[in-house]
Amino acid sequence: MSKLFAPLKVGRKTLNQRIALVPMTHLRADNHHLPLPSMKEYYGQRASVPGTLLVTEAIVISPQHGVYQNIPGIHNSSQIAAWKEVTRTVHEYCPVLNAVHSARTDIGRTFAENS
Ligand SMILES: Cc1cc2nc3c(=O)[nH]c(=O)nc-3n(C[C@H](O)[C@H](O)[C@H](O)COP(=O)(O)O)c2cc1C
Repeated sequence: MSKLFAPLKVGRKTLNQRIALVPMTHLRADNHHLPLPSMKEYYGQRASVPGTLLVTEAIVISPQHGVYQNIPGIHNSSQIAAWKEVTRTVHEYCPVLNAVHSARTDIGRTFAENS
């Protein structure tokens, strides 16, 4: 059997196979960077094989960080509540979830300067 489908321990978790979802921005947030319900559906579908590692897309951690239109944020209570929903949905299938990461400050500046 290919090693690709062999389990792999990552920290305290064990992946059932070695294929992970890479971070991919898919613009499923509203104009206030609030994740839309389709975000939950997107990650829930990709978590439907147990033991899969999902890495989320870039997430804005403050209004000063990397502000592209319609990418998700996690710096206010509405955004945090929406991500909790995503996490809850994913964990229904899959104990191994998502490392999140922030967008870059220089991208934010570039966007602000150009708009
Ligand atoms: C449509 C698209 C959106 C992407 N969004 C992100 C992102 O939000 N954050 C990130 O770190 N990488 C992002 N990437 C980069 C992919 O994760 C990267 O291409 C993937 O890890 C494969 O790596 P490689 O391009 O070096 O082969 C994106 C790639 C694509 C094609």
